[in-house]
Amino acid sequence: MMNQQNQAKILGLGSFLPKKVLSNADLEKLVDTSDEWITTRTGIKERRIASEEESASFMAIKAAEAAIQNSGIDPSEIDLVLTATMTPDHYGCPSTAALIQAELKIGHVPALDLQAACTGYIYGLQAAKAFIESGLYRNILFVATEKMSSIVDFSDRSTCVLFGDGASAAVISAEGTGFKIDHVDLAADGAQAHLIEVPVGEQYITMRGKEVFKHAVRRMAHSCEQCLSTLELQHSDISWLIPHQANGRIIDALGRHMEVPEEKVFSVIHKYGNTSASSIGIALDELLQQHDVASGERLLLVAFGAGLTWGSAVLTKI
Ligand code: ACO
Repeated sequence: MMNQQNQAKILGLGSFLPKKVLSNADLEKLVDTSDEWITTRTGIKERRIASEEESASFMAIKAAEAAIQNSGIDPSEIDLVLTATMTPDHYGCPSTAALIQAELKIGHVPALDLQAACTGYIYGLQAAKAFIESGLYRNILFVATEKMSSIVDFSDRSTCVLFGDGASAAVISAEGTGFKIDHVDLAADGAQAHLIEVPVGEQYITMRGKEVFKHAVRRMAHSCEQCLSTLELQHSDISWLIPHQANGRIIDALGRHMEVPEEKVFSVIHKYGNTSASSIGIALDELLQQHDVASGERLLLVAFGAGLTWGSAVLTKI
């Protein structure tokens, strides 16, 4: 049995969304699209767009400050900064985590980025869990941050209506109370990498939407089942489903598959679109601001993205 003391727990959460709103009506002026098409195909009504100064690290720092405050720990107790992003300030180096570490003045603790596109939040939870439960670190600042507008071609209607900018952060620790990370299930299929990519030497993201859609529903449903079966849980043991926010139709299909009542499938896609790695953290933060989650209740998080990558996690309130 694992020592409860060493089990990874989310102690505090934070998020940041840029103020600038880009509505479907605004997009109608940029490309040949309509509010009706975007709403019925994706569920998105508007998304946030970062200003020039609001880089991935800028948004991450705002979210991190909120998460640290929410966790109640002192910044000096953080011993690792872990960042998930596919839109770093610097392509190549330095890492966005290093920029966050410096700005938050938390000392010369290690800092690293991981990249798993829209599955970055779940991959980050697994990495943090492993680092904590191996005893290597005690308090990890995990930040997911995406400036998707920097890799979106605003003349390509098949992608520009989908994405938005934002960041989310979590303090994940060996001690304290919050949400215990019970289990994380991860997978990838690099043979399908071409379905969502920034082509080599180019700036903008391309996606074969219809093919991705089919993979997304199937892979996420499978991962959820794997996660529950490892923990010997039933669908009815889940209080809230928080899926990656890529498409309202995918979210609805998953909710039906997992037999979670509609009102227990948490979605913010109408307001923020797809914020890639940040999306689950942003949704989780909003869920906890709006609803009480009782001790013992379980949350199921699930994501899918470029790579292809996918995964899920079960958290229990303690
Ligand atoms: N406005 C109007 N028409 C459009 C638009 C638009 N913004 N975009 C595409 N269309 C047109 C297409 O050109 C096509 O026209 P055609 O039939 O004449 O060729 C038609 O609408 C239908 O296009 P589809 O691609 O078939 O539309 P679909 O119903 O599949 O919806 C979407 C597209 C929303 C992209 C959907 O496929 C989807 O959500 N896919 C999954 C996205 C996802 O989960 N991504 C993973 C995470 S992303 C990451 O990791 C970075």
